[in-house]
Amino acid sequence: MLLRILGTAAGGGLPQWNCACPGCAGARLHPARRRLHDGLAVHGGGAGGWFLANATPDVAEQLESHPGLRPGTGEDRTPVVRVVLTDAELDHTLGLLRLREAARIDIWCTEPVRGALGARLPLTDILTPYTTLTWHDLPLAGSGRYAEVAGLEVSALPLSDKRPRYAADEPSHPAWSVALKVRDPGPGTRALYAPAVAAWSDRLGTEIAEADRVLLDGTFLDEEEPRRTGISRRTASGMGHLPIEGPEGTARRLGGAGARVLYTHLNNTNPLTDPGDRAHERLAGLGPRVAEDRMVVSL
Ligand code: MLT
Ligand code: MN
Ligand code: ZN
Repeated sequence: MLLRILGTAAGGGLPQWNCACPGCAGARLHPARRRLHDGLAVHGGGAGGWFLANATPDVAEQLESHPGLRPGTGEDRTPVVRVVLTDAELDHTLGLLRLREAARIDIWCTEPVRGALGARLPLTDILTPYTTLTWHDLPLAGSGRYAEVAGLEVSALPLSDKRPRYAADEPSHPAWSVALKVRDPGPGTRALYAPAVAAWSDRLGTEIAEADRVLLDGTFLDEEEPRRTGISRRTASGMGHLPIEGPEGTARRLGGAGARVLYTHLNNTNPLTDPGDRAHERLAGLGPRVAEDRMVVSL
């Protein structure tokens, strides 16, 4: 399978339009540091084509940036109309509105996510006059079931009940936020995409250890980053994102799997957005690296 990394930034992207923090200022000065919202295009290798993992507000530019994702000249004008969602966050779903020119959009997601996108945003009502939305159940990993998308087996590993802020009063559910587990049934290779890890679990550790490549929540470098930079009164984990470093951080928990991990969903306050920051060296010692926009990973 092929993973095309379409973006690696948390909400707002890098730079964020209303922010002049060192990370955003650095990205304005050095265009190579710019990052679009995190998302992937995934190809099964066969004739099954691509699917998107999340549809970000940048989705049209992201598709346009890669020749393999552009439309052909024949009747197939919209080659990418399959979207698998990790959650119902605005930064992972607003791109569905930008895909409205498609004749049909197939969407796979968990039950609470579908509920939020049907009733709270409400994407279904808005998009129905433009295109045909077809909703599919995204089975939970370990249930023995999976969705077959682009020739790949896709399932959801529940991560937390973190609801989008616009749906904060919706009932709790363990699958509001999930990791996507993607398995290529031919070679048996596996990828895991987990852009919002609110808490560590043995199950997550096992899935990471068994995956050939992991795209992991790298929103914040350390627990105090949101408070120190003034973007929130909460800590990183209080905002639903375990930090990379520190005693509760994810980097130290990776063990031997570290070398197969790429951090994504970087917030604009994260020092790792500066390629010269010393944190890159500390991270390299533990194995994981930072994902970059337009990276292609072949498994
Ligand atoms: C998150 O990743 O925590 C969310 O996207 C934040 C938000 O937009 O509320
Ligand atoms: Mn986010
Ligand atoms: Zn900023």
